[in-house]
Amino acid sequence: MALLPIILAAGQGTRMNSSLPKVLHTIGGKPMLQHVIDSCQQLDPKLIGIIVGHGADKVKGSIEVENPSWVSQAQQKGTGHAVLQAVDLMLDNDVVIIAYGDVPLIKTDTLKKLAQKLDTAVLSVLTTILDKPFGYGRIIRDDSSTIQCIVEEKDASDKEKEIAEVNTGFIAAKGEDLKRWLSQIKPNNAQGEYYLTDCIAMAVAEGGAVESVICENHLEVEGVNDRTQQAKLERAYQNKQAEKLMLSGVTLADPARLDIRGKLTAGKDVFIDINTVFIGDVSLGDNVIIQPGCVIENTKIADNTIVKTNSVVESALIGSSCEIGPFARIRPGTILNDEAKVGNFVEVKKSTIGQGSKISHLSYIGDTTMGNDVNIGAGTITCNYDGANKFQTIIGDQVFIGSDTQLVAPVTIAKGSTIGAGSTITKDTPENELTLSRSKQMTLKGWNRPIKNNKKDNT
Ligand code: UD1
Ligand code: CA
Repeated sequence: MALLPIILAAGQGTRMNSSLPKVLHTIGGKPMLQHVIDSCQQLDPKLIGIIVGHGADKVKGSIEVENPSWVSQAQQKGTGHAVLQAVDLMLDNDVVIIAYGDVPLIKTDTLKKLAQKLDTAVLSVLTTILDKPFGYGRIIRDDSSTIQCIVEEKDASDKEKEIAEVNTGFIAAKGEDLKRWLSQIKPNNAQGEYYLTDCIAMAVAEGGAVESVICENHLEVEGVNDRTQQAKLERAYQNKQAEKLMLSGVTLADPARLDIRGKLTAGKDVFIDINTVFIGDVSLGDNVIIQPGCVIENTKIADNTIVKTNSVVESALIGSSCEIGPFARIRPGTILNDEAKVGNFVEVKKSTIGQGSKISHLSYIGDTTMGNDVNIGAGTITCNYDGANKFQTIIGDQVFIGSDTQLVAPVTIAKGSTIGAGSTITKDTPENELTLSRSKQMTLKGWNRPIKNNKKDNT
């Protein structure tokens, strides 16, 4: 028995008011359709059928699937019509599961339950109970609670509109049955559409059992039609991430003010203060502290390191017991070895900073390999770019660089060098010596400051 999920993703999503196809709008930094695909992928399906229409090329180009089968639906004539386009993918014995590219929080387990219902039913429907069922297809049951059919809002009688159990849209059935039903669907309804939901009444008419799986958490089956719904599901998704982190031993100053757009793993006793955004793959070691307002992207941070307020760290490897920020910017390709310190208003790019080395204030370090226990004075700049090419700066162990120094690359500051403050260093320096380049200080004795000619004239 092979599983065949088919995901509907052809709709335009008019109410998003966007040039981006609806299913590419994101939850947790990932397109909604990708969430659904990832949930389906865990079912170990034979392949995944994806029905695309509006913005099909954009959708195909933005999504990663192991074994996709893209099916085009040029005109959107209804959910039944959409699934009909994919009949060539269905073998008679396949268990087909219909899912939706704009219902991003659907869980693999729920899809599994729906498929398992086919042990006893010919068709299974995922339903949920809503306080305000307006707009949804209603589940019509007979006196013995057996499902009879689904009636759409626009076709429902006043009595049927009172029913709180609604169709989420997710169904499962065998390929052979679905193919038979789909070929019989007619657009005889208020919207003139081919309703997938008509399959339910057809199954019942054939004497087949239709069973439901009732979804308790209706956010899991909520679709996104506009950006207010997107925001609601985004927060629900983030709350779930926050809960997982807290249960794994992370303290969050406020779980409502955490954003994970990718995958965050964290060790024990990590503390994350408010308003940090984690992007891509981020891992934090034990006892890491993240102060408020940071952005941390595709970075690994080892134990006991602190990232202080308003720092930005991207594609870097950070050792243990390091100190970053406040207001630091660590750019891609940076490696901080253990106990390194990068202080306020310091930018580090594509550089390796040795163990225990400190760049405490107002510096730019780019394309640099720095040894251990180096001290970089405030305002030191590596001049790594001549307008055409980038050059390397090499700084040996135990170097001390005085404040406001320019290191004009390519240049090597040998081990143990001391550089006098205010120097412009253009040549390699010898080990363990003091090197400086600085014009001599002088005093002009008896010099007078200029005085304004007309003190009242302010122009
Ligand atoms: C559908 C169900 C309704 C259910 C509701 C849950 C039908 C007839 N009705 O109604 O019972 O309560 O979902 O949200 O199935 N799509 C296509 N191609 C099409 C039509 C739709 O890809 O030709 C996609 C849409 O982009 C959307 C999804 O299928 O993602 C649902 O379509 P929509 O027209 O919104 O169905 P509803 O009227 O909401
Ligand atoms: Ca809908």
